[in-house]
Amino acid sequence: MARNIQRIGVVGTGQMGRGIAQVAAQAGIHVVLMDTNIDLVRQAIATIDVDLLKLVDKGKLSGSDHEAAWARLEAADAPAALAQCEIVIEAVPESEALKREIFAAVGPHMKGILATNTSSISITRLAASTPRPHQVIGMHFMNPVPVMKLCEIIRGLATDEDTYETTLALAKKLGKTAVTSRDRPGFIVNRILIPLLNEACFALYEGLGTAADIDTGIELGLNHPMGPLTLADFIGLDTCLSIAEVLHRELGDDKYRPCPLLRQYVAAGWLGRKTGRGFYRYDAAGKKQTGWWLD
Ligand code: CAA
Repeated sequence: MARNIQRIGVVGTGQMGRGIAQVAAQAGIHVVLMDTNIDLVRQAIATIDVDLLKLVDKGKLSGSDHEAAWARLEAADAPAALAQCEIVIEAVPESEALKREIFAAVGPHMKGILATNTSSISITRLAASTPRPHQVIGMHFMNPVPVMKLCEIIRGLATDEDTYETTLALAKKLGKTAVTSRDRPGFIVNRILIPLLNEACFALYEGLGTAADIDTGIELGLNHPMGPLTLADFIGLDTCLSIAEVLHRELGDDKYRPCPLLRQYVAAGWLGRKTGRGFYRYDAAGKKQTGWWLD
């Protein structure tokens, strides 16, 4: 039977970790936000507070709900602080070694579920690296977490029913619609999204159109909120490449081969919005720059 989660741990204070912490605090759940450096965590909570205040300004959150959500955010820099958490969601960068390290560090301190926000790493393999694989599950949120309605739930081969039902109930409590995916490379969303973004890179590489034409074609032709090259910049070209490599390697089909242009941009350090340059250029606030001098 599904348990009603009251206290969660979130490991990682990047965009995804902050987003998960924010929606959980807004849903009435106590959140222990952890990273290696306490100043980094306090800074992340301050950033969440700014985002909550924007919601207050827009009339989407009352002053008292803002105060209550803020009070549910606790900063931590050591796994022992996660002891009472019923579930810990790791949202650190997409490295299998790092995620294994986090589970190995956190696992002995708590008895609950170990969830990962991985976008492509095998849940079954991550679970097998822990002493309790039946309590390991994938909870894949979309970016930006407070806005996007979906959460993919991924069961590893050993994930038990209690872990699955409880995680599904948590996703609903966070206001998300959950879909369940088998543990296969890229799960459901990235199995379909990454080939689309990669194909847009090939289209640019082959000179099929300019970046703006390719994006406008898909935005207006298919009614997507962002064109594929803009979306790739938004996700991060390094992340897109690493997922494309997982699809190519693990599905063993050359139709998933990453576009050479994507590899080249990543090699140049042009990782998209977060580095100020990808398929487009961005100012310090992340706003896309336009003008003939940028071509
Ligand atoms: N955090 C919180 N709220 C945000 C936000 C953020 N980072 N970015 C935008 N918003 C909010 C805005 O405040 C605004 O809210 P209101 O309607 O209340 O004013 C709303 O979202 C719309 O924002 P904007 O008007 O500024 O801009 P927009 O209409 O272009 O929307 C967007 C921005 C929501 C990001 C939209 O462009 C979009 O949906 N893009 C596609 C995003 C997407 O596909 N995400 C999934 C990526 S794949 C993934 O995450 C999985 C993976 O593993 C790679």
